[in-house]
Amino acid sequence: MDEFLELAVEVATSAGKLLREGIDKIAWVKHKGEINLVTEMDIKSEELIKEHIQRAYPDHQVLAEESDIPKKDAAFRWIIDPLDGTVNYAHGYPVFCVSVALEIEGIVEIGAVYDPMRDELFTGARGKGALMNTTPIIVSQTAQLNDSLVATGFSYDIRTSEANNVDNWNAMIVRAQAVRRAGSAALDLCYTAMGRFDGFWELKLHPWDVAAGALIVEEAGGAVTHLGGEPFSAYSREILASNGRIHAEMIEILSRGARP
Ligand code: IPD
Ligand code: CA
Ligand code: CA
Repeated sequence: MDEFLELAVEVATSAGKLLREGIDKIAWVKHKGEINLVTEMDIKSEELIKEHIQRAYPDHQVLAEESDIPKKDAAFRWIIDPLDGTVNYAHGYPVFCVSVALEIEGIVEIGAVYDPMRDELFTGARGKGALMNTTPIIVSQTAQLNDSLVATGFSYDIRTSEANNVDNWNAMIVRAQAVRRAGSAALDLCYTAMGRFDGFWELKLHPWDVAAGALIVEEAGGAVTHLGGEPFSAYSREILASNGRIHAEMIEILSRGARP
């Protein structure tokens, strides 16, 4: 397992450095949807990561945001977001990361999330805990939502979908101490794992947004479920992650909102 974690760290940090160096010289930005962007650097980062993984393990599968979805399941599947926080990146807002996870026989075993602007590397290995750089991390001890800083995000269909999370935002903003929408789900999860946030939820995320971060939260002692408390998988279209202590209070609020 150590060799897989080493590779996850190597690809996340080298792609992150590429993103940091490229932030003020992006050659092109395209629209995948009305407000959904892809930049030259999403593609370059993904190419770098895929090349490394395929060179090291030619028989492993890669599920990556900017590539075709692999048709069948494979025993070893790397789940990659080459740039989580593309809208931030395109505006030069320095909140983004690279997210790399390895799923083995359907279970996420390894996760690495790298924020190149702060040089913060979050890692988790199932059953072995979570780290920020070389320091073990645990979730916060905050016991009540009233004292909690929580985070969320909105999917790119916010203008057209009823399940757009605005109802949840309105309900949460008057119950938590404060709610943030920073624009990188993978970092929101890592911040929940290391106690900067007490909880995070979002609808309609993809496996590449959550696979690594959800494992890191669990390995830091947090809880990860659906918004109603049901079991979570990386392929779920909704996620509620918290320090565990405020989970029931968050479920009480979020289980009333529109769901995908
Ligand atoms: C997005 C970010 C954002 C979240 C969106 C995601 P992307 O990923 O994680 O925080 O609110 O739902 O799609 O497009 O920047 O990789
Ligand atoms: Ca993403
Ligand atoms: Ca992305």
